[in-house]
Amino acid sequence: MVMKKGLNTVDLDGKSAIMRADFNVPLDKEGRITDDTRIRAALPSINYLMEKCSKLILMSHLGRPKGQIYEEMRLAPVGKRLSELLGKDVIVCRESVGEETKKIISGMQSGDVVLLENLRFHKEEEENDPGFAKTLAMYADVYVNDAFGTAHRAHASTEGIAHYLPAVAGFLMEKEINFLGRLVHQPEQPYMAIIGGAKVSTKIGVLEKLIDKVGALIIGGGMAYTFLKAKGFEVGRSIVETGKVNLAFELIKKADEKGIKLLLPLDHIVTDNIEEDGKTRIVDTNAIPESMIGVDIGPKTIRAYKKEIKHGKTVLWNGPMGIFEIEKFSKGTNQIARALAACAGITVVGGGDSVAAVNKIGVADKISHVSTGGGASLELLEGRELPGIKALQDL
Ligand code: 3PG
Repeated sequence: MVMKKGLNTVDLDGKSAIMRADFNVPLDKEGRITDDTRIRAALPSINYLMEKCSKLILMSHLGRPKGQIYEEMRLAPVGKRLSELLGKDVIVCRESVGEETKKIISGMQSGDVVLLENLRFHKEEEENDPGFAKTLAMYADVYVNDAFGTAHRAHASTEGIAHYLPAVAGFLMEKEINFLGRLVHQPEQPYMAIIGGAKVSTKIGVLEKLIDKVGALIIGGGMAYTFLKAKGFEVGRSIVETGKVNLAFELIKKADEKGIKLLLPLDHIVTDNIEEDGKTRIVDTNAIPESMIGVDIGPKTIRAYKKEIKHGKTVLWNGPMGIFEIEKFSKGTNQIARALAACAGITVVGGGDSVAAVNKIGVADKISHVSTGGGASLELLEGRELPGIKALQDL
């Protein structure tokens, strides 16, 4: 693994820095931030840069505006939250490039923090346009990338800009690379991965990679039904990706040949209706009624999975065990979060839903590393080189 330069390796004294963060946070209909984890995660770098640099410019995307301006995707709520967390006014620009921004930046006083407007209001950002990247680069002396969540995108603010300034990783970026990189390159055994979520198709790359690394692969969530179908079970009206049954079969075969434990649910919570008031039953895997839908792992499965997780020296979790947004189908996911919190090994959680689950039940501080990256963490675990990391200077 190529090591990248971090904040500690550059002289920042009196310089101005431009930092790419991933402030792509969820907002409610009133524009209030419903989870500020990603903003908090960038604070160590922001505080450090505020202390060392004369001026700090922050930038991010929010949502997928595709080159258009949407009022509901402005970064003003992020600026407000940042000001509260830093105890200091953050100057929020109404555009990321343009005359007004140029004026604000040239008028910055020592100690000022500026937040540029949503980068994706300009199509040049996602096009990785060199002119756009150069304009951003002209705002500062040093470029810091702390946006791990967007490191899998080769955009002007994540990749292009790094060609025009000394480019280093922020603290969050370093932490993500260290924890996730360790899982790819030297996981301490026994290493086990718990993979859930609705679809096998979104996790194929990571499943294929993991099968070469782990001692146990634990499957839950909707994707388990594609695996169970591949083993010949009837799964009622549960979600099955028919086009992926063969792939699931191949993975089962490969795990068997390699002597890897592949754990599938032994029992299930099934319902006739995916609503809070749906009728539910607990059934074994060989007795899923034709009319019912599997929505969570059952108690026997929870026990078996917890027993396995307990022995892990390295445990990765990505994807919920059921439809956890509905309280009565969330037990499996919550119990896995608790099992990870109780595990003495290195525990890493990635993916929006599993991260939401550890936050919801309040065990995030008992997990070794809660990744801020969804797609980025999966791509890194697949062993791919992320453009936002590759572009940074080698150590
Ligand atoms: C994310 O939320 O995964 C990142 O912010 C990247 O967003 P994107 O998938 O729209 O590029």
